[in-house]
This record gives sequence, structure tokens and C-alpha cells, in this order.
Amino acid sequence: MSKTYKIAVIPGDGTGPEVVDEGRKALKAAGEKFGFQLDMTDYDYGGDRYLRTGEVLPESAADELRQYDAIYLGAIGHPDVKPGILEKGILLRLRFELDQYINLRPVRLYPGVETPLKDKGPEQIDYAVIRENSGGIYTGTGGISMKGTDQEVAVQSMVYNRFQVERCLRYAFEYARKFGKKARGKGDANTLGLVGKTNVLTYVFDLWERAFHEIGEKDYPDVTREYYHVDATCMWMVKSPEWFDVLVTSNMFGDIITDLGAETQGGMGIAAGGNINPDGVSMFEPIGGSAPKYTGMNIINPLAAICSGAMMLETLGEVDAANAIENAVKDVTANKVKSLSAGKMGYSTSEVGDMVAERV
Ligand code: IPM
Ligand code: MN
Repeated sequence: MSKTYKIAVIPGDGTGPEVVDEGRKALKAAGEKFGFQLDMTDYDYGGDRYLRTGEVLPESAADELRQYDAIYLGAIGHPDVKPGILEKGILLRLRFELDQYINLRPVRLYPGVETPLKDKGPEQIDYAVIRENSGGIYTGTGGISMKGTDQEVAVQSMVYNRFQVERCLRYAFEYARKFGKKARGKGDANTLGLVGKTNVLTYVFDLWERAFHEIGEKDYPDVTREYYHVDATCMWMVKSPEWFDVLVTSNMFGDIITDLGAETQGGMGIAAGGNINPDGVSMFEPIGGSAPKYTGMNIINPLAAICSGAMMLETLGEVDAANAIENAVKDVTANKVKSLSAGKMGYSTSEVGDMVAERV
């Protein structure tokens, strides 16, 4: 009997449902080819449900989602809902409650894709960012006092403990060992670069840097260690992305640099991410948002959602199926789509999805 994975699908807002539908086609094709089934259950969490019911997320959501093998998410964010409500109430809440403490965001330029970086190609733009996903400034620690007066004070604290830093770093070292440039036959070392700001954030990044070297020296001597300040990292991501192999960083820095990274790999149409709990339920999503202005037009690029589906299969252990989807995407970027931007692909959303599924 073939294996069945239980997948919770949250199509979400805007173009989320459209791109998720194309992802389903590729996942289904991969299942047929590699002999497994995906039993998908949809959840209507998102802006429309909130506007209709007044509830952002049912109390039971995290517990219910814990019953699945993985979660596949489209996009969260609605033009009629004040920014922050859905993002914090759905996306961040699920990341926290399901303890998805890793946000894995590869920055990989596929063949045929245009990058804004001059003279750089797939050989040079080929690294991964591991963003800590459970702590930092994202925990919401802080507050406002004397609101509305001219003495108003707002505090938002960057909070990390050793436990959070350590588990993230260990994941990153393991990842570098398995998927670094040497492991992939693309270089002579597996290198993990810590991205921080030790010259200003002298408490938080002191903790990160000490833990990084202690753990690396003791348990991962085979992985080369590097340190970069986050501002310089932005510079090198544009100037010399080939320097990077695997990067690990805090939640906020990871958020920021992965938008830059996504742009260098062809934009939000292709950038995929995984919110990973290595011992629990992980959630996969395209990095881009809900793109309200393109909703329902069948012009949004579904490749990021398709690639996040591939990442989901990889995490479930279906590595060959994941590779098949990735190779199908590469074939489509190299030989078919003209641009990765919405409305400029030369094909509709569903045509791109069909082409990937056929190739799988
Ligand atoms: C992302 C997004 C989210 C984040 C927002 C929507 C809360 O920008 O996944 O990168 O900041 O993590
Ligand atoms: Mn972001």
C-alpha cells in the first residue's frame, strides 16, 4: 500500500488560493510518479473569514493542525484588514504555537531567470538563509506608555535565550554539513556564516556569536565558520553572492535579507520558504504576499508556491519527488516563461502550473 501524507492546506488571501491550486497539481503529479498520496484538507483561515466572523484564528487551530504531516500555505494579508492583525494573528501565531523555529529560505537562481545582479548567474547565486523563526523582536515583547502625549514611549525588545539560539545554530550546522557547497559538489568547504550586528547589538549578538563558535568548535569542526555584519551582508549579497554558502541569522535580519535575496533570484514569483519544526509540523509558503491587485486574474506566478510544495516533500522525506518538481520548474524557467513577474510570464497562472505538472 502506498504511503499517504495528511496535509492541511491554508490557501489564504488574495492570490494565495490560485497559486496553491497550481502547487496541488505538481504535488499530485509527483505523488503519482513516486508512489505516495496526499490527503489534503482545506482551512479557510484568512482575511475573508475574519471579516465574515470576526475571528482571526479559532483557539483550536494549532491543536488541529498538529494532527497533520505538514501545512501548505498560500498567502496571508487582506487589503480591508488593518496590517498586523492577520499577519500576527495567523502566520506568526502558527509559527510560534507550532514552534516552527526555523525559516528556511534558499536563494537560488534558476536557469533562464533574469537577475538584477550584473554578470551573475546560477553559479554565483546559490546559497541558503536559515532565519531563526521563534524569537527576537518578533515575540512582541514591549509596549507603549503615555500614548498620545508628546512624552509617548514605545519599546520593542529583541529577546533571545540560549536555548533558542542554540537549537537554531545546530540546525544550521547540520544543514551546512548536508547541503553546503562541498556536500553538493560545488566547493571545497561547507561554510556557515553567522549574520549579526555584534558592533551595536552587543548583548544579543554576543550571545549568538559565542554560541556559534562554541557549538561549531565542539560539534561541527568540519564546517567552516564565518561572521558577517548584517549591513555588509546586504552589500555582498549584491556584489559577491558567490561568497555565501549557508547563512544563519536572527528573525528580523532574516526577514529583511531574504526579501533582498528573493529579488536577486528573480523576485517574489519564485522565492519559497519553509517554517520548520524539525520535531513537529512544518508549514511551507511562498515568501511573497497575497498580491491583492492581481487576485483572480490568472496572471500571478505560481512557481514560488510550487517550489514551497517541493520543499514540503523534501521535509517529508520524499526527496526524489521534491527534486523532480524542482527540475520541472527549472525546465520551465529555462525554456518557457519569459519573465517571472505577474502578467509578463507569457503564460497564465494555470498554464505555468500545467507545464510544471506535465514535466514532473
Ligand atoms: C515573511 C513576512 C512575515 C514576516 C510577515 C507577513 C509577518 O514578511 O514571512 O517574511 O515578517 O515574517
Ligand atoms: Mn518578510
